[in-house]
This record gives sequence, C-alpha cells and structure tokens, in this order.
Amino acid sequence: MDLLQFVRGCTFDDFLFVPQLGVVPRRDPAVIDLSARFSEHIPLKRPIVSANMDTITRAAMAVVLAEEGGIGVIDRGFRAGDIAPQVTEVATVKRTQHGIILDPHAIRDDRRVAEARRLMDETRVGTLAVVDEAHRLRGLLTERDIRFVPDEAAVADRMTSLARLVVHTGSISLSDAERVMKTEKIKKLPLVNPDGTVLGLITAKDLINHRRHPFATRDERGRLRVAAAVGATGDYLERAAEVIRVGADAVVIDIAHGHSRVMERAIDQIRKRHEHLELIAGNVATADGVRFLLERGVNGIKVGIGPGGGCTTRVTTNFGVPQVEALVQARLAVDNRVPLIADGGIRRDGGIAEALLFGGDSVMLGSVFAGTEETPGETVLKPVLMPESQKIVQVPFKVFRGMASLAAVRDRLDLEEADPAELEALGAEGLEVSVPARGSVRTVIHDMLKHLCSSISYGGARSLGELREKFWAKPEQYLVKLSEPSRTESFHR
Ligand code: XMP
Repeated sequence: MDLLQFVRGCTFDDFLFVPQLGVVPRRDPAVIDLSARFSEHIPLKRPIVSANMDTITRAAMAVVLAEEGGIGVIDRGFRAGDIAPQVTEVATVKRTQHGIILDPHAIRDDRRVAEARRLMDETRVGTLAVVDEAHRLRGLLTERDIRFVPDEAAVADRMTSLARLVVHTGSISLSDAERVMKTEKIKKLPLVNPDGTVLGLITAKDLINHRRHPFATRDERGRLRVAAAVGATGDYLERAAEVIRVGADAVVIDIAHGHSRVMERAIDQIRKRHEHLELIAGNVATADGVRFLLERGVNGIKVGIGPGGGCTTRVTTNFGVPQVEALVQARLAVDNRVPLIADGGIRRDGGIAEALLFGGDSVMLGSVFAGTEETPGETVLKPVLMPESQKIVQVPFKVFRGMASLAAVRDRLDLEEADPAELEALGAEGLEVSVPARGSVRTVIHDMLKHLCSSISYGGARSLGELREKFWAKPEQYLVKLSEPSRTESFHR
C-alpha cells in the first residue's frame, strides 16, 4: 500500500483502525510499555507533551507532565525582552524534586537568623547547609530550628551541628542513601568531599517522590525534566542562554513557519553558542520542511501547521497540510533519524493513538488540557443559562487562547494602549475562548494513557513500539477510510 497516497488530504477523523487479535492480558499503563522519545537524547516513558502556550504550560503543568512520564514546554508568551518570568518557571520545575541536590542553598556559620530567614523565604527552601569560609559543612539549619527565634540569634547556635549529623563522604546511590536513612532514622543525608566541603544533600522527601512517580521524566541528577520555547528573532538568543543556565533540558525554537530562512538563521546562531544543546525546531508540515530542519542538525522536529484548537492559520491564510498527511510525510522523510512531535489537532483520546501511529514519537497537546487546575490564569465565574431548568447558574471558566491570537500578541508586545488599526495589522492567527474550569490534568493524563493501552490491545500488540511496527509493516491491515455516515456513526455523540 502507498500509505502517503492513501492519506493525502486526510486528518484524524478520516480513519478508524481495524481491531486485531488482542494479546495483552491487561490494559494497564503500569505494565504496558508506552516509552517513546521526545528528542534524540530525551527518552519518555509516556509520549505526552504539553504545548508551549501561555494558557497551558507554566511550572505547575510542566511538573505534572514530567511526574507522569511526559514533558512540558514552557511557553515564551511573556513580554518581549522580559526574560526573567520564563526563566523562573524553568528554575521552579528544576528545583521541585531532586535525587542528589548538588548545590544546596547554604549560609555561613557566622551569620544571624534574620539572614537565614530571608534566604529561606526567597528560595522557598526549608533546609540550609551551614558552612564556614572554605565551604566546609558545619551543620544544617531548618525552618523548625529558627521558628520563634529572634532575628539577632546566631545561626551557629540554632543549627544541628556536624557532630550530631549523619554525614556521608563521597557520592552515593539513591538506594544506598535510602538504606542509610532507614537505619539511622534520619530525613536528610548531607554529602561531603574528603576535605569536608559540601558535595550535596539527599532528602527523604525526594526519595519518596521518586517512589511515588516511577515513570517520571528525570535528568541524570534526578530532577524533573522541562523544555522551554524561544522564538527565532528578537530576544531569542538571550532567552535560550538564560533558560539553559537554569537547567532547561531542551530548547524548542517554535515559530509558525519553521521551514524558513528565519529559522535557518536562528538554528545556526543557537547552535554556534550551545553545541551540545538538545535543540528542537518547528513547526513544519511537509517532507521538505522536515529535511530542511534535519540538515541543520536539530535533535527533534515539531510537526503541524494549522491543526491546533486555538488556531486560525488555515482560515486566514489558506495554508497548511491536514495533520495525518503531514505526519506521514514527516515520518517518511525523517526515517527515524530524530523524533517527531505531532503538534495540534487532537481533540479526543483516540486521536493520540492515530498521531502516534501515523508519525509522531510523541503528541503535543494544548486545548485538551485547557481549563485544568494546572493551567495558568484566573478562574472567572460566568452566568450560564441551563437549558433544562431555564435557571441561570454561575459556572467557573478559564481562558484558552492561541498564541497568535490578538489577545496573546497584545499582551506579549505590551500593546494595551495601541490603537485598534495597529492591532488589526498584526494579523492574528489564533482564537481566544472560555472553557469550563475543571480538576487536575493528572486525571486527564491517566485517562489518556488507559485509552492508549486499550488501543494497543485492540491493535494486537504488546507495546506502543510494537503497535507502530505492525502498523507500518502492513498499514492496509489497519486502515479504514470513513465515509460521512461512518464518521457520524463513529465520532458524533
Ligand atoms: P491543540 O489542538 O492541542 O494544538 O490545541 C496545540 C497547538 O496549536 C498551535 N497553536 C497555534 N497555531 N495559531 C496557530 O497557527 C495560534 O494562535 C496558535 N496557538 C497554538 C501550537 O502548535 C500548539 O502546540
């Protein structure tokens, strides 16, 4: 079968997959392998990515995504030239959980409690390493040690001194650290170098978190992974440098039209400065676009022009490629050299299985996460007329908007005062809508993963990887193209 020919002009709601002989005993995300790659050197245990949109991904969303085995991309929808807010979001994710804290916040042993209090407030860290002038460990100081204590008190008088601490010299594995904590009945294990200087700190809280989130996406230091988006003009170089400085695991150059000279220059400039950076670029929707980015040495490619829920690009420009065709084109062109992120257009969980089979290594999701607790933005009450009772009730809503919507662009460019004609000239390519506020995104992700496991079972495979192999070996065995009535029968509820 010529798959590309078969899917020309098609998108998610054009297909069903034919059920095959099921071989998994249980459709359980805890046992079915859903592992994938976000980019060349960043593996994921779950192929879910949250979109870099200012109404979707900030630290709270990125933390949950990483804990659940995916990854979040912090948007750049902050005002141009104002880099600090995005950097803070990235830093917050990186400081949420640790394996070994290699740079614990420290205070000198000759300081006063007031300074310790200030440092704890600023960093929101409740345990400080107390060190001498040579950065040798003298003790630990916790919030509890200084509670009700006057500001002028000496840190050295309040800390738990070295003599009373269990300390480990040199590095240690997390499982050995757990053993030491259990035997010694301690919650914190400081690590020191042979000369007594601070090497790191391991806390029971972090070890518990590791157990609680066995599928989490972590870096080599046990911290949650997070990516950050930058543009291709303006402050992008400085933004990239700053997010990398605080530990971003990947940088995504995200522009509406990634197959462009502007993108070429941006990749060159970033690569020149950050040779080993995990660099992802997009968006593109054609084989040529994919090859263009591949040749410029990116580690991942984002695919999708115009399928997004908050996006009006196709309406306003008439350019784009239906997302299933775009994914198949991209998959054939990339030939497994770097992973593809299927970005946009997924409105029901079944679309995730489609995006992953037709070409995505992972899926990027925006609108399906809209309104969840972890999305940024205010919850506002709006009066809604209930059709059954004809009563007006107050319903909580949150805003979801395309990153190229007039409102998002106006905020980004700080154009509150601009005159309407100027704004018109910006050429908005996105929508702003209110969506009902709902619970945690964790529940949404858990449902998605269960449904993905069911797709694997229906597809006659044992893992996501195996289903993908079977599909590409014999697409004709899987694909049904839908007629209008069969589409209604399948998806209209
Ligand atoms: P979903 O369908 O999951 O898609 O909401 C998320 C993706 O939509 C893209 N996006 C936009 N595309 N104009 C566009 O052309 C916009 O204003 C816009 N905002 C978001 C983006 O790729 C995102 O990941």
